[in-house]
Amino acid sequence: MSFSILGTGKAVPEYVLTNEELSTMVETNDEWIRTRTGIQERHICKSETLTELTVKAANAALENAGVSPEQLDLIICSTMRGENITPSQACVIQKEIGATCPAFDVNAACSGFIYALDIADGYFVRKKVRYVLIVSMDNLSNIIDWKDRATCVLFGDGGAAAVLGEGDDLLSINLTAVGNDKVLRIPHGTNSSPFYEHDEERAVLHMEGNEVYKFAVNAMATGIKKSVADAGLEMKEVDCVIPHQANIRIINASAKNLDIPKEKFFCNVMHYGNTSSGSVPIALDEANRSGVLKKGDIIAMCAFGAGLTTGSCVIRWNKGEEK
Ligand code: UT7
Repeated sequence: MSFSILGTGKAVPEYVLTNEELSTMVETNDEWIRTRTGIQERHICKSETLTELTVKAANAALENAGVSPEQLDLIICSTMRGENITPSQACVIQKEIGATCPAFDVNAACSGFIYALDIADGYFVRKKVRYVLIVSMDNLSNIIDWKDRATCVLFGDGGAAAVLGEGDDLLSINLTAVGNDKVLRIPHGTNSSPFYEHDEERAVLHMEGNEVYKFAVNAMATGIKKSVADAGLEMKEVDCVIPHQANIRIINASAKNLDIPKEKFFCNVMHYGNTSSGSVPIALDEANRSGVLKKGDIIAMCAFGAGLTTGSCVIRWNKGEEK
């Protein structure tokens, strides 16, 4: 036994930051951002807190699944930085939605949602749970260097949640990690110890974009190929690919490498930018609610990110209209 996805829900902040507005903040322009990344706009937190958004996504997913908070046996939140160092964001969500189950966070950067699915699968296999809530969200706008045009144009805030129930719809899942704190890193930035002998670093994102790009294109092709093969399927049997929404060029290159028609890749990077661990589940929620996904569809999901981590999986969709 593995699980079925019973419902999804997303939450993004209201404020939309366009490429035009960004062009007034750093030396960039709409044409560069669109052609190099596909991004047109992204949502940025002004008044909203990460807690408000994670709770909103959680409640939307519970409603979509028809599951109540009291029924939950586990909450996993994937985030790089919760509202507090402790308690975990998952515990904050548990309190806010009125659940009583165990709750913890996982940090696998942009691959967080797929890491969380794999952890949840273990609980289902061990028959420890009937219903699990996963919330994947990052608030990158508060850890971006807004003076660095090479990175500040790429990211946005927001995320989404999924409710899992007993079922047999996870067909394969693969995680990888290659420890690397050079090409993509966000330091903590503060240290209150009067004894500590190292300099403090600013808590902002540092990235070697070209290195991550090469890693990403390879990771997407390798991950999806392996997960489709592990599921005992052929590439042509995949109905929909939900990729990490980092850059449309990475998605297009993956489609070419995998010989999957571009139309099968669900893309919303133009409206959200890269929301880190929120990226795959936001796309999954939009594909769910827009009716793109039909009952019985085979979905491949794949993400890559800091770590460097990757996650890929194949699931059968078990909601909505029949094909
Ligand atoms: O979730 C994982 C997170 N990270 C990623 O997925 C990032 C993966 N990498 C990428 O998506 C791409 O490497 C970027 C979008 C980050 C960069 O695209 P690129 O085509 O690799 O551009 P580049 O870094 O090679 O820069 C080309 C030029 C440079 O100018 P010169 O040296 O050729 O004169 C940059 O200084 O573009 C310049 N540039 C910009 N120009 C206008 C860099 N950023 C900007 C900007 N606006 N925002």
